[in-house]
Amino acid sequence: MKVGIVGAGFVGSTAAFAMVTTGAASEVVLVDMNEALAQAQAQDIAHAVPFTHAVTVRAGSYAALEGAGVVVLSAGVAQKPGETRLELLERNAKVFGAIIPEVLKAAPDAVLLVASNPVDVMTQIATRISGLSRTRVIGSGTVLDTARFRALLAEQLAVTPRSVHAHVVGEHGDSEVLLWSSATVAGLPVEQAADQLRRSLTAEDRATIDEGVRRAAYRIINGKGHTAFGIAGGLARLVSAIGADERMVATCAMLTDDVCGVPQVVLSLPRVIGAGGVLDTVLPNLSAEEAAALRRSAEILKEAADGVER
Ligand code: 2OP
Repeated sequence: MKVGIVGAGFVGSTAAFAMVTTGAASEVVLVDMNEALAQAQAQDIAHAVPFTHAVTVRAGSYAALEGAGVVVLSAGVAQKPGETRLELLERNAKVFGAIIPEVLKAAPDAVLLVASNPVDVMTQIATRISGLSRTRVIGSGTVLDTARFRALLAEQLAVTPRSVHAHVVGEHGDSEVLLWSSATVAGLPVEQAADQLRRSLTAEDRATIDEGVRRAAYRIINGKGHTAFGIAGGLARLVSAIGADERMVATCAMLTDDVCGVPQVVLSLPRVIGAGGVLDTVLPNLSAEEAAALRRSAEILKEAADGVER
């Protein structure tokens, strides 16, 4: 499948690299306002092809997106000193207003995969601007937070992350909800699995994992200024699921009619991802505490989106 990436910064270029190393796409086209940057990234990534998968990687204009099955939107501006989150949102909404019509002119059948932050609200904006069916406008959402949760739980229980089934839902951000009550290893609730595996999973361990997931981006940004590898891995995985019509369950953001009583909100829930985008949504069993936290997360996102979409 041909994949377009609009925004060739850290996230877009690393996602392109991940698609090459995993073979998630057959062709990747990088588009950026800064054409020299897109060209340089495409060349650099293309030089990895002899060592990896036979993926064609190039830079191009919007017209070069023709025939793309997925277009990743990783463009956006960074926060200026003194600028509020809402002002940043308004500027990024303008960026999407310029990009999306161009993308759809060239690739009218593409699934839009939004990665720009704040990703939930940007996905809502992309849904409105594109006029596409909501199932074709996916935000990467908590796909990364879920990966972080599985990775930290796996470390705690000394098993591979792929054997941990656990989800983070809600906002990709501070109000996200780690679903401890439905987290399992080998079909057992994680507390029971921890007992059998002779590993500690006390309330304190759980709080450390929660903090580790929720604050991961802050810590990484403090150390290196941005995050890219984790999200790039997630984007490549989603692209591969769409391309192969895999029906993979992943926590992604999409406009949802009702979340714990909050109407028309974009946030992440486990969704079935395949050809054409989101094929279905599954709401896990929630403890009363998790349901209240998810409702709060939905309210926060609704308020943020209404602020910019008013
Ligand atoms: C992350 O969570 C910053 O959204 C980015 O890594």
